[in-house]
Amino acid sequence: MPQRLYKGDPLSPDERDELECDLISFCDRELDLLGDVGGFRVLYAGGASPLWIEGLARRVGSGGSLTALEADPERIEAARTLLPQAEVPCPVRLVRGDVFDPPFAGETFDLVYSAGLFHELDVGRRPASEALRALARVTRPGGRVATSDFVDTVPATQLEDENLQRLAARERSGAVLYGIGPPGRLISLHEAVLSRVRWRISPPFRIRHLEKLVLQELCDPTGPYPTLARSHPGRIEALRRRILREGYIRPATLYVEGAVSTEICKK
Ligand SMILES: C[S@@+](CC[C@H](N)C(=O)[O-])C[C@H]1O[C@@H](n2cnc3c(N)ncnc32)[C@H](O)[C@@H]1O
Repeated sequence: MPQRLYKGDPLSPDERDELECDLISFCDRELDLLGDVGGFRVLYAGGASPLWIEGLARRVGSGGSLTALEADPERIEAARTLLPQAEVPCPVRLVRGDVFDPPFAGETFDLVYSAGLFHELDVGRRPASEALRALARVTRPGGRVATSDFVDTVPATQLEDENLQRLAARERSGAVLYGIGPPGRLISLHEAVLSRVRWRISPPFRIRHLEKLVLQELCDPTGPYPTLARSHPGRIEALRRRILREGYIRPATLYVEGAVSTEICKK
């Protein structure tokens, strides 16, 4: 979900605590699927949220290292400002770059992990498989590439919001985002590049009070919604009514991981 949702704060201190508690639980649920990553050299691909970086760094511990690769310079800057307040036991490096061309030597990492990257990938010029191959090449043979992302198996309010964000990106810059689809799409992508692929689906997740932030965002004249409201007025109003009725539910997630073979490292 876009970071911009957190910039205004219409929540009381208690509500904010509950929201943050749920965001941490969601993050922990996904990160726990990685198992023991203590001492690993980890690349966090596509993202620089201090919440995820802190969660990963704690699991990596003082014997390992964490590098976050993010395309958006503003997100890198925000993380640089906020990370000193976080509890990060291992060295953390923030790198601006593109997952299609990761700026690292081959076989640098034991684990490459992404959370919510694939649905935001622009696949207009290069297919998602190219990004996955590029990430596999910077992983050592026998290391893992693991992906967590939303899937559309169960109805959830955020799915419609993400569809609208995809439309907005297309109208704004011509980007063709990979988007959120059925689990089989991401699983086959991983099976085409990695070996010993295994996966797991987790149910939708309610983040308390997130709906207040999204409803505020729907009225923000500097955000994407007013433009969308002009081109797709019915859909924005329907999203607003649905959020009021159901709250803001995060979609189900797919966790899929596979091992990197020597052949992929040479390609
Ligand atoms: C939904 S957000 C991920 C949220 C994540 N959990 C975090 O830590 O911020 C997807 C992120 O992927 C980044 N991204 C999208 N395409 C990218 C690319 N080609 N290379 C690097 N980062 C990319 C976006 O800028 C965005 O920060």
